[in-house]
Amino acid sequence: MISEEDNILLIDKKGKKYMVKCRGKFHSHYGVLDLNEVVGKDYGIKIKTHRGDEFIVLKPTFIDYIEKMRKMPQIIQSKDAAMIVAITGLNRGDKVVEGGIGSGALTIFLANVIYPGKIYSYEIREDFAEIAEKNIKEHKIDNVFIKMKDIYGGIEEKNVDLVALDIPEPEKVVENAYDSLKFGGFIFAYTPSIEQMLRFREKAKDYFKIKTIECILREYESKKLGTRPKTLMVGHTGFLTFGRKIF
Ligand SMILES: C[S@@+](CC[C@H](N)C(=O)[O-])C[C@H]1O[C@@H](n2cnc3c(N)ncnc32)[C@H](O)[C@@H]1O
Repeated sequence: MISEEDNILLIDKKGKKYMVKCRGKFHSHYGVLDLNEVVGKDYGIKIKTHRGDEFIVLKPTFIDYIEKMRKMPQIIQSKDAAMIVAITGLNRGDKVVEGGIGSGALTIFLANVIYPGKIYSYEIREDFAEIAEKNIKEHKIDNVFIKMKDIYGGIEEKNVDLVALDIPEPEKVVENAYDSLKFGGFIFAYTPSIEQMLRFREKAKDYFKIKTIECILREYESKKLGTRPKTLMVGHTGFLTFGRKIF
């Protein structure tokens, strides 16, 4: 049952998504929705604007949540986060160290995957940590621990399954990550540029078995004249380099 405290996902007739708190009025291109009508009902109900246009009310998944939450620094997109799980086999109960938290997008993704396992996120900027903390709180997860520390200075956790890095110089963390990881665990570095990726690989190759991939996503659309790839796509996000501790 939907309560006033819930974030709900509204989808309009064109499929556009909006994430809002379930209270008061919501103003859209199609008119005004009275969200009080939704309180106490079950997800899946449809409500009409004062002009008669219908919206469906859904429970946001964590992917919807990441898409719609407030972001400050560039996030790791869910397609790339999913590759982390696909390659490392990250699972329920695992322990993750992250540097840095940014807006908390990767954090929320991984925290959902490993729950009730814990994620320890190192961050140096108070303003970003505040945004991430707010996003995490809103999403109601309690397995994330933000540490206001420079990850280049060391990692306190031991027996870690994954060290995930989205920082400018991930190569500076290689030795400390090696000591923190359990055998079979992974280091992951997200690097937008080739030069960053090469610097990380050069350092990491002496400690880990490494590989680098890119995740290129191409969506298709169906129109009257036929089905074909969409004209516009995201050309590049980042290089994903993985290293497994097997030596
Ligand atoms: C691109 S953002 C991370 C975005 C995040 N992966 C997401 O998906 O929302 C990079 C973050 O790393 C932080 N950072 C940079 N150097 C750091 C360091 N040495 N230790 C900890 N955090 C660091 C920055 O302040 C910034 O918040």
